[in-house]
Amino acid sequence: MKFNQPNLYTLVHLQVFLFFSINLACLQANASSGKETDQLALLKFKQGITSDPQGIFNSWNDSLHFCNWTGITCGRRHQRITSLVLEGQNLFGSIPPHIGNMLFWRLINLQNNTFRSEIPLNLTRCSQLKMIYLQWNNLTGKIPAELGSLTKLEKLAFYHNNLTGEIPPSLDNLSSLRVFTARENNLEGSIPNEMGRLKSLNIFSVGVNRLSGIISPSLFNITSLSSLAVSLNQRSGSLPDNICFTLPNLQTFIIDGNYFSGPIPNSLSNASQLQMVAFSSNNFVGQVPTNLGNLQSLRWLNLEFNNLGSNSSNYLLFLTSLTNCSNLETLHFSGNNFGGVLPDSVANFSTRLTTLHLGANQITGIIPAAMENLVNFISLNIEDNLFTGFIPDQFGKLQKLQALSFGVNRLSGQIPSSIGNLTQLSIFSLLENKLKGSIPSSIRNCQHLYGLYFSANKLSGELPKEVLGLTSLSQILNLSQNSFNGNLPTEVGKLKNINILDVSENNLSGEIPGTIGDSLTLEYLHMQGNFFQGTIPSCFASLRGLQHLDLSRNNLSGQIPKDLQELPYLQYLNLSFNDLEGEVPKRGVFINASALSLIGNNKLCGGVTELGLPKCATRMMKKVKSHTPKLVVVTAYVVPLNLIGSGSFSSVYKGFLPQVERPLAVKVLNLEQTGAIKSFMAECNALGNVRHRNLVKRITCCSSLDYKSYAFKALIFEYMGNGSLEKWLHPCEEGENQKRSLNLLQRLNIAIGVASALHYLHDLCGKPIIHCGLKPSNVLLDDDMVAHVSDFGLAKLFSINSNSSLSQTSTTGIKGIVGYVAPEYGMSGLTSKEGDVYSYGILVLEMFSKRRPTDEMFKEGINLHDFVKAALPKRLLQIVDPTLLPREIANEVCEDDEIVEAKETNHHDNLSRVIVNVRQCLVSILEIGVAFSLESPMERKNMADVLKELHLIKKTFMDIQMPRNKPMEDD
Ligand SMILES: *[C@@H]1O[C@H](CO)[C@@H](O)[C@H](O)[C@H]1NC(C)=O
Ligand SMILES: *[C@@H]1O[C@H](CO)[C@@H](O)[C@H](O)[C@H]1NC(C)=O
Ligand SMILES: *[C@@H]1O[C@H](CO)[C@@H](O)[C@H](O)[C@H]1NC(C)=O
Repeated sequence: MKFNQPNLYTLVHLQVFLFFSINLACLQANASSGKETDQLALLKFKQGITSDPQGIFNSWNDSLHFCNWTGITCGRRHQRITSLVLEGQNLFGSIPPHIGNMLFWRLINLQNNTFRSEIPLNLTRCSQLKMIYLQWNNLTGKIPAELGSLTKLEKLAFYHNNLTGEIPPSLDNLSSLRVFTARENNLEGSIPNEMGRLKSLNIFSVGVNRLSGIISPSLFNITSLSSLAVSLNQRSGSLPDNICFTLPNLQTFIIDGNYFSGPIPNSLSNASQLQMVAFSSNNFVGQVPTNLGNLQSLRWLNLEFNNLGSNSSNYLLFLTSLTNCSNLETLHFSGNNFGGVLPDSVANFSTRLTTLHLGANQITGIIPAAMENLVNFISLNIEDNLFTGFIPDQFGKLQKLQALSFGVNRLSGQIPSSIGNLTQLSIFSLLENKLKGSIPSSIRNCQHLYGLYFSANKLSGELPKEVLGLTSLSQILNLSQNSFNGNLPTEVGKLKNINILDVSENNLSGEIPGTIGDSLTLEYLHMQGNFFQGTIPSCFASLRGLQHLDLSRNNLSGQIPKDLQELPYLQYLNLSFNDLEGEVPKRGVFINASALSLIGNNKLCGGVTELGLPKCATRMMKKVKSHTPKLVVVTAYVVPLNLIGSGSFSSVYKGFLPQVERPLAVKVLNLEQTGAIKSFMAECNALGNVRHRNLVKRITCCSSLDYKSYAFKALIFEYMGNGSLEKWLHPCEEGENQKRSLNLLQRLNIAIGVASALHYLHDLCGKPIIHCGLKPSNVLLDDDMVAHVSDFGLAKLFSINSNSSLSQTSTTGIKGIVGYVAPEYGMSGLTSKEGDVYSYGILVLEMFSKRRPTDEMFKEGINLHDFVKAALPKRLLQIVDPTLLPREIANEVCEDDEIVEAKETNHHDNLSRVIVNVRQCLVSILEIGVAFSLESPMERKNMADVLKELHLIKKTFMDIQMPRNKPMEDD
């Protein structure tokens, strides 16, 4: 191009050209430096991160363009960052000021991390920002007033941080702002009046701060508002009665936890879109508007903890109005001054109602049974009112109920068993009423229960094992201050998740079951004010989390288990007013005299000096028998391989002790089993002072913890080398390989031995002892085949002076000895010497007939007694154990009893003399069996009589059978 004659056109063109070129270059330079700035800003951001457990920033490296880095979005044309989204990545760090250089971004979302810095002022340079989500971090400092310049901002979320200072009034410039949420910070001052200018504002949420003053009236002019939440601040004053006229879109109105006073505005019902109203925990007074029925969308109304209502039923009229709110799900008005009778109309609430809480008022009347219609109830709480009458049986229909509290009222009658239909129930409180009767066993169906409060009623009867066996109970089981009696069921050990167990102030008795040591999560255990007896089980030591233990005012005796001092968290121990003795430990909870109460136990000594107890004179040296085994030794030497028998309450092992040469039988109680503790105690007590050659000799009772710290109870006996009579009588059934049988003389001796033992127990050993469980498996044979009666797990001790020799027996025990138990036991539930006599009679019949009383053939009508009786004396062969007849005579006698009869009269040779003798012996002994197992207890002989007869039978038998034998030593 030639420029010899420049004209205007070219000049202008050139200028335009130059202008564009320069601007283009400028723009390009800006774009590339802009991109670098963005990348640099991101790298600075990355540097500010101190912890990135998810490895978000691994992709933030040179091999990728930053627009492809995790969490980054760029604009398509200019490749400038438009959004940064790193939500919930567990990031720790600070937000650097460099992010203010990302001029094109619109969205920053760093919510739910742990950013600790202030909000950088430089952020306010990013004029394109529409959404800032910084909630759920640890941001500090103030909300920058400069944010007011970001006029495109629509959503600003700061909630759940540590922001301080005031809400800057400059935010009123944010004309596009729709959402402002800054709840759960430490913001102070008042809500600026200027906020009323935010005409697009939808959600304004500043609850849980320290904002004070009245709500500026300007806020109520924002007609766009759908959610207004200023709960838990320090606001005060009353709400203008007309506030809601200008809020046609309001759906959520939350002002709970302030100091608002005065009445609830009547205009509330004009905010016709309202769904959720929370006015709780203020000082509202007077009537609740009775036009709330207009609020057709209302789902949630919470008015609790105000001063609403009076003792007049009129103040409950709003309830009738609310029955028109067909969407109502939750209604709370607990903790007010409502009184008067609860209107029946509450039964007409929307069936959508899931929650009704009206506790802590003074409402009277009965619980309307028609509330059974509200089938979607999940939580119903009417506690701490003045309700009377019964718990409606119909409430069993409310099968979705999870929390039900009728506590602290004046309800009477019984707990309906329909409660068992509430299978979803997790919290159930009836405490402090006037309920009577027992706890319905149907409660076992409530397998989601974790808290049960039945305390301070008039409930009685035994504690149902169904309740103690509810393994779901994890929070509390409170049965205190009632009239429950009987034992604490061993099922208590099934409460493996429980924290608080309170059975105090009842009439409970018996031993504290060792299974309580299985409730490993127990922290608070209250058993005071009962009649518990026996020793404090050392199993308490396995309750490692125990903090509070109260066993005061019982009849506990023996020593304080030393193991209690090992409980690391125990900080309160009350053992006062028992009959404890011996040395008080000095460590653990026992160090601190103020954490401990031991008064009213006059035989205690030692302990820390602050307790002021007398010194223990010498170390409490109890006479320890040389061979009394240490438990540790027992557990160490008992191998299950050595199992020699088992019953419902226990397993018996063969064991060895270093101190004792002979083997021992260790009977380990199965504490899971109902009645095992009772059985253990019975056996320990019964055998405490008795000695007889035909009783199994108890060496000791152990009650302690095993190596796993579980409660362990065992009885240690002499080992009986020849096992039980049962095994000898029924070797095949008992799986014995060896075919062995007892001869007639052996059986005779055993019968005499057992009779001697019973005679001794009944008549000769001070307090009569009723065995109650006699059967062949409880008759053990030692190496010399001498019988030893064992298993006193069902035994009863009677005082001679007591006018009745009868006492109640447990049905659990009876089951174990079906067939041997006297018929009158079943009818009267009583035990007696005659009962043992019956069992003995059956035992004899079994020994010589080899037929069990439980044999199939005795199922219908005829029993063992009848069977033998009918055959005696002539048809002996039909009933007698064939092995009792010597082989050489078996043939003679086998064909027909009549032949034997004939031989008996016609032949007088030796063989027939023997036959006749055997026969006579068998008939006599079976007659004894029959006479002893007579149905009527009055007609049965006593053991002393029978013993004489048995000796006579034996003598006759011996004289003829083996005239040259030495006399058998049998007694
Ligand atoms: C991002 O990655 C995609 C796919 O790997 C690729 O096609 C694209 O060019 C990358 N973007 C940039 C800006 O490098
Ligand atoms: C926060 O993020 C964690 C991890 O992603 C998530 O489990 C949690 O539910 C989130 N919490 C909130 C309040 O968003
Ligand atoms: C932050 O903004 C200030 C004021 O505009 C500026 O001087 C400073 O350089 C900015 N900081 C960064 C790291 O860009």
